[in-house]
Amino acid sequence: AIERTLSIIKPNAVAKNVIGQILSRFETADLRIVAARMLHMSREQASAFYAVHQGKPFFDELVEFMSSGPVLVTVLEGEDAVAKNREIMGATNPANAAPGTIRADFADSLTENAVHGSDSSETAAVEIAFFFPEGVCPRTR
Ligand code: CMP
Repeated sequence: AIERTLSIIKPNAVAKNVIGQILSRFETADLRIVAARMLHMSREQASAFYAVHQGKPFFDELVEFMSSGPVLVTVLEGEDAVAKNREIMGATNPANAAPGTIRADFADSLTENAVHGSDSSETAAVEIAFFFPEGVCPRTR
């Protein structure tokens, strides 16, 4: 089914000037960009976004990194968008990411792994509402 997922191009990928290359990969896979927002998150925003990871050993480093520079947040739409995006991103740990995936090509470490993508359509709805509380265009075609 056609669904939506949230993607974040993380500060290390923005710093590398590869936003366009990453967006191209989404489009090549038939995912459409239906909303976009560039912002520099505060520590508070990053903590709130990753609240599910509070208490984990990597939480502080994650929050510090995600608030270290601008990110590009997009909503991607397409057939099986959540799973498709996860496939294009590659494994969370770039050491395990398949060749040709975004993380294999642009990640610097487990924390600085270039992109975030929602892990389910339920999570996607929550994450989309976090960054786009005013809502997103209901239809784009
Ligand atoms: P992301 O998909 O954005 O979700 C949480 C992030 O925490 C993850 O990608 C990684 O960048 C980061 N992270 C750092 N250490 C770990 C770890 N040990 N396990 C999972 N995620 C980690």
